[in-house]
Amino acid sequence: MPNPFRTGMRRSRAPEPATLVIFGVTGDLSRRKLLSAVFGLWQDGLLGSAFNIVGVGRQAMTDEQFRDYALEALRTSKETDAVQPGSLEKFRELLYYEHGDFAGDEVYDRVGQQLDEAENAHGGRKNAVFYLSTPPSLFEPISAGLGRLGLQDETEGWRRIIIEKPFGTTLETARHLNDAIHSVWDESQVYRIDHYLGKETVQNLMAIRFGNAIFEPVWNRGYVDHVQITAAEDLGLEGRAGYYEEAGIIRDMLQNHLMQLFTLVAMEPPVAFDEGAIRDEKVKVLRAVKPIPAEAVKFSAVRGQYGPGTLAGERVPGYQEEPGVAQDSSTPTFVAIKLEIENWRWQGVPFYIRTGKRLPKKVTEIAVVFKRPPLGLFPGGLERNVLAFRIQPDEGVSLKFSSKTPGQENQLREVTMDFRYDAFGAGLESPYSRLVLDAMLGDATLFPREDEVDHAWQLVMGMLGAWEDQAAPQRDAPFDAPFPNYAAGSWGPEAADELIGPDRRWRRL
Ligand code: BG6
Repeated sequence: MPNPFRTGMRRSRAPEPATLVIFGVTGDLSRRKLLSAVFGLWQDGLLGSAFNIVGVGRQAMTDEQFRDYALEALRTSKETDAVQPGSLEKFRELLYYEHGDFAGDEVYDRVGQQLDEAENAHGGRKNAVFYLSTPPSLFEPISAGLGRLGLQDETEGWRRIIIEKPFGTTLETARHLNDAIHSVWDESQVYRIDHYLGKETVQNLMAIRFGNAIFEPVWNRGYVDHVQITAAEDLGLEGRAGYYEEAGIIRDMLQNHLMQLFTLVAMEPPVAFDEGAIRDEKVKVLRAVKPIPAEAVKFSAVRGQYGPGTLAGERVPGYQEEPGVAQDSSTPTFVAIKLEIENWRWQGVPFYIRTGKRLPKKVTEIAVVFKRPPLGLFPGGLERNVLAFRIQPDEGVSLKFSSKTPGQENQLREVTMDFRYDAFGAGLESPYSRLVLDAMLGDATLFPREDEVDHAWQLVMGMLGAWEDQAAPQRDAPFDAPFPNYAAGSWGPEAADELIGPDRRWRRL
């Protein structure tokens, strides 16, 4: 039965006929998430009247083999929506495949021919989105290859490029990549993806803040004591040691996903709900953050790496024992930082952010912790109110406050008011479906802009400098015990508690 809350929604948003070209289509992301997300959009009738996918990979395959591959991926992915009878067979006919060396010209030439053919069938429009779901080292060569063959040219239809994360590995490489991309594409054609922005609950942060009158008046230094953002994962490496050893938690989670959550909580109300206004406000927050230069890192950040431990009753190995990881690896798998924003709204209100692998459970939460009441009239009544956004799982929003306990005494206790997303009666869509659809509609609101990515890199460079430069004086930092410094299945190194303490503590999640 259709969900009554969704009747009539988003039908007005069908994109024009277009081709989605997925580079790296046989990779993990595409197999597990992207194909299912696109299939879901198509099955819901959200992709318009004419649509094709051209998968591109290095592996040789015929169209038929690729179609088998894609259908198998859809059947086995946990993220595929319920399949309507006959749907997979029809979707199959929309798929094509090209392979080749991304450094040469031939593969782009053939992609160009595929576009011509598909677009003849679409009635002459040559609209295309190129999705780079490849290792980051291929972003620049693929963008350049598309440029050499003129496939970015918009004379006969729009052309857009979606670039996966991580966007660069340092401020310098991110700037270099931006320059390389801009030598081919106009910024208005570029969609840097951060899948956290596609999450329903992350968008709901803006909806709740700016769609209600009761929150904004207290959303400032007058009322808020501090803000905590946690993105905990119970998973370890999942076979990604090659990538993770290079990236570590700062590049994998902090510079992108966590910075996005942070800016959405801290930004000023935008003048409109559009890509220019919202992205301007997010950039302003990043610009107002007090920089953490390498020498100050020991006062504002803690890193960690997990050792062996127990998770859900099972013994799990430490990071250094994971296959593919160096035995003396110094790659961090946990980070906690304290950010301060120097503006009128937030002066003096710390933002504590933590994220890590192999923590006790998967949970992402943003908690706005309010000041204590100025006067304790009742016993037990000086607790801080907390407005918590549960981004995942058990998506929802809760407000914690004090209430009188029933009885003759005026004794207060903390209680919670809870909104759960499942009240809407529908499962949440994949973030990728929202983001792919937005890119096809030309709406970049939920994609970080060039200057945003640049500022987010600026913020973490002090940490990378202090922790990756062997000569840096951080080795003896008080917060910096030798690795491993937390057991798998614990909430990270003790130093993270010292960072937020002594008069505040991390929420028990
Ligand atoms: C990815 C990181 O971007 O985000 C992974 O590369 C991480 O290491 C993942 O596990 C977390 O995403 P989500 O949506 O599961 O919270």
